[in-house]
Amino acid sequence: MRWTAPPPAPRKAQTVPRKIIIDTDPGIDDALAIYYALAAPELELVGVTTIFGNCEAPLSTTNALRLLEIAGRSDIPVAEGAHAPLVVPFGGAADFVHGADGQGDVNLPPPKTAKHPLSAAQFIIEMVNRSPDPITLVPIGPLTNIALALALDPTLERKLGGIVLMGGNAFALGNITPTAEANIHADPEAAERVFRTHVPIVMVGLDLTDRALMTGDKIDQLATFDNPRAQHLARIIPFYRKFHQQWYEADGILIHDSMTIAYLLHPHLFRTRNYQIVVELHGVNRGRTTPALERGINREAWAGRPNVTVCLDADISALIDLELQYHAKP
Ligand code: RIB
Ligand code: CA
Repeated sequence: MRWTAPPPAPRKAQTVPRKIIIDTDPGIDDALAIYYALAAPELELVGVTTIFGNCEAPLSTTNALRLLEIAGRSDIPVAEGAHAPLVVPFGGAADFVHGADGQGDVNLPPPKTAKHPLSAAQFIIEMVNRSPDPITLVPIGPLTNIALALALDPTLERKLGGIVLMGGNAFALGNITPTAEANIHADPEAAERVFRTHVPIVMVGLDLTDRALMTGDKIDQLATFDNPRAQHLARIIPFYRKFHQQWYEADGILIHDSMTIAYLLHPHLFRTRNYQIVVELHGVNRGRTTPALERGINREAWAGRPNVTVCLDADISALIDLELQYHAKP
């Protein structure tokens, strides 16, 4: 039975747009998330940081610069992040999912703009310490840059406006292994450091996004939107759609990363529950985000950990229609 959201509480008028930094490995669903955020007056994208994952980090940077140029937003700085996880080597890009170029192999020209001189971690620290308003981090790739920033400047814990991340699986199966989600599995040591901090974290993981299917009829609407962002999405999505047809026998695409932006804009359409989370580092469950359940006597492993807001469900069809409204904007 599909879960439907309760009627929204009266929302107080938002005065200042919420400042966010998206940490990304673009990636086709990353592109959807970045363009969703750019189209939302409720949000101010003050920077993009890049990470390995769907691509090697330098290609993530190139693609982030390309995406912002296509959208006419080269004013937004892009800072390159880690090329490898904290402890283990990088496991390799997901060419078969997003294309060798990370953007559906549509043969894009090189970007004209240059990346920011700071590393991603230093950029995050600089931006958070300089900003008059709290900045929310929106990681939609492995968490290496976030872990590094928190380690280099522990005061970020009390200065950040929060972390809304795509990653993890509390009760759902994995996607990169039977038990782990790709972003967390790419750098579990980094994720474990992030989930131990006291920054308010919202985990938008496979418990929800494994069902966040934008079907073919909705995807086809993008090509009808007369703006460069939607036109680019319409060009790159077919590669990602073919992957889903082959792997999931579904006509559509899982919009994992967009769900972080959807949460920031429409939290009342989500069902969440708070859990302490431990990231497993060893054995077959390496990379799994395991919740502390009320059941069970031996819960020492979770002792002292802050709660994480875990997204368990949402009114997915309403959220997809809302996202398309934003992609349709000129
Ligand atoms: O598991 C899904 C995540 O892995 C998404 O962020 C997708 O872009 C890939 O990075
Ligand atoms: Ca991603």
